[in-house]
Amino acid sequence: MILEHHARASKNLSLPTFLTIFLCLGMLVSNAEVDKAKWTEGKALFKSNCSSCHNPTADGTGPALKGVTARWDAGGDYKGKTGNQWLHVWITNWHDAVDAGDPYAVNMRHSRTAEMNVFKGILKADDVDNIILYVENSDLFAPKTEAKTTAATTTNEGDEAPGASLYIFVIFLVLLVAILIGVTNKLDQIIDEKKGVALEVKVPFWKKPNFIVAACLILFVYGGYVTVDAGVHLGRQQGYQPDQPIRFSHALHAGTHKIDCQYCHQTANKGKNSNIPSLNTCMNCHKQVSKGPKYGTEEIAKIYAAVGWDPATKTYANTPKPVEWVRVHNLPDHVYFNHAQHVNAGKVQCQTCHGPIETMDQVYQYSPLSMGWCINCHRNTEVQFASNNYYSTYTKIHEGLKNKSIDKVTVETIGGTECQKCHY
Ligand code: HEC
Ligand code: HEC
Ligand code: HEC
Ligand code: HEC
Ligand code: HEC
Ligand code: HEC
Repeated sequence: MILEHHARASKNLSLPTFLTIFLCLGMLVSNAEVDKAKWTEGKALFKSNCSSCHNPTADGTGPALKGVTARWDAGGDYKGKTGNQWLHVWITNWHDAVDAGDPYAVNMRHSRTAEMNVFKGILKADDVDNIILYVENSDLFAPKTEAKTTAATTTNEGDEAPGASLYIFVIFLVLLVAILIGVTNKLDQIIDEKKGVALEVKVPFWKKPNFIVAACLILFVYGGYVTVDAGVHLGRQQGYQPDQPIRFSHALHAGTHKIDCQYCHQTANKGKNSNIPSLNTCMNCHKQVSKGPKYGTEEIAKIYAAVGWDPATKTYANTPKPVEWVRVHNLPDHVYFNHAQHVNAGKVQCQTCHGPIETMDQVYQYSPLSMGWCINCHRNTEVQFASNNYYSTYTKIHEGLKNKSIDKVTVETIGGTECQKCHY
């Protein structure tokens, strides 16, 4: 009787259960990955919209945001909306929450002097979810391996190979299947003996249908995992924000002091690469300026140490040791990208690709730098064709414009989506 019962349980365990277990495990894994994508998205949105006033874990112009979900939930329901829903209203347009009279929002209005921006039409509901996900877990995905500018960088540094966890997961699945098959077989055997059936010729386990189905499932789940993973990681470096050896702030230099980007990045409109300025450029000003508003003499002293400047005697007296800036942007080697072509010929603003650099205390990668990102812009951006001598060789297109068979010229029209333009 008991045996019967077990036997049935084990039969149930075989196929449909395998299916469910595998799919659930597979989904668990890919969910964790999708969360990371949302987190990364949230981080980028937070950096570009909120970080000028907020820090997840420290008070600034606005309060520290970690724990907001719990705070608003504790504020309670009001007019049929939960605290969490009012939090969403607040972030989109705080006036709406205050005007509606939500007690938590109203009380907060009086606790600070500065006003928050309105994000209606800028942030969608998903965006707000992702930002909250990020601020509540801001230290969840710490920056990955850092690629040093000086080291002969390979392309995919900071990019992870499928982690050890994946292999452990696969091994775990294989073991699980082996054990389950073992149990099923054993039980089948016991039942057969009980029923007095003569033992059949033993079929090796890898020829059993159970095993074959299970093996296919593993491959299926593994394949799914890899596909999802690759998809998610297309934008993997977006938001990448490594710590730099000197806390150089673009917000201070390019923002507050309005120093032109090309004062430091002189080659951005002349060459393929945009240079990182040498410390001599810094010394043009920092021979005089030895103290900063945030870090006093501490960070500027690092410039002096690196160029061998002795601020006491005002001479170059010590041995220089170069500063190793950590590279933020990094296209794979098989891609050709040229700054001058975009900045000079294309008249694209630095900020279109790099975001609001002049507000960043610490630079982060604003754009995905994926192939889709390049191609989309090439499809949508018109080139200033007629007025620019650079394009005078494209006689066919000029004729087309004249006889109106072409009405607009995008980068695509001049060949900007041909593979060999971007790939070596
Ligand atoms: C210009 C500065 C500024 C910007 C930009 C800003 N905030 Fe605020 N935020 C504030 C201030 C100030 C408060 C305090 C509210 C008050 O007293 O009016 C606040 C309050 C909040 C609160 C409530 C905090 C709590 O403890 O309950 C949340 C949530 C919030 N902001 C989220 C955001 C998000 C998300 C963004 C970006 C999408 C953002 N803020 C952008 C200034 C800003
Ligand atoms: C006073 C000099 C100076 C000015 C002005 C300046 N930068 Fe920079 N920039 C640097 C230095 C130094 C670094 C390397 C350290 C870092 O990443 O913060 C850098 C890094 C960068 C990076 C990241 C490079 C990488 O590693 O991928 C970008 C993008 C950038 N700057 C864009 C700009 C833009 C756009 C402006 C104008 C709004 C600007 N910079 C103004 C000095 C400057
Ligand atoms: C055109 C002038 C100029 C150049 C070039 C320049 N700086 Fe500055 N830097 C300043 C000024 C002005 C300040 C702020 C002084 C103040 O506000 O008290 C400053 C402040 C700083 C601080 C202190 C930040 C703080 O908050 O304490 C650091 C660090 C710094 N600069 C690093 C650099 C580096 C590295 C370079 C070269 C890549 C550089 N600067 C190039 C003008 C310049
Ligand atoms: C913000 C829009 C924008 C983005 C993003 C962008 N480009 Fe461009 N690209 C342009 C414009 C505008 C031109 C036209 C300039 C010219 O005529 O050479 C151009 C031209 C080019 C050309 C020359 C095409 C030709 O036929 O002469 C290449 C190559 C190129 N881009 C590569 C890239 C790569 C690689 C990326 C991504 C890493 C990229 N671009 C991202 C706007 C963009
Ligand atoms: C069309 C998009 C686009 C524009 C416009 C653009 N950049 Fe870049 N920038 C990139 C890409 C893509 C990279 C990564 C290049 C690589 O890895 O080879 C990059 C890299 C950099 C770097 C790191 C060094 C390097 O060349 O790899 C600096 C510094 C930089 N940009 C500064 C600037 C400045 C300053 C401007 C404006 C004068 C500017 N960029 C305009 C797309 C752009
Ligand atoms: C406007 C520039 C541009 C054009 C045109 C372009 N690519 Fe790309 N391609 C890129 C960039 C940038 C990457 C790197 C993306 C990344 O690192 O995620 C890339 C990556 C790739 C990769 C590697 C995929 C990977 O995950 O690293 C292949 C394969 C590729 N491109 C094929 C092509 C083919 C085929 C064409 C023509 C139909 C083409 N590309 C046209 C910019 C371009």
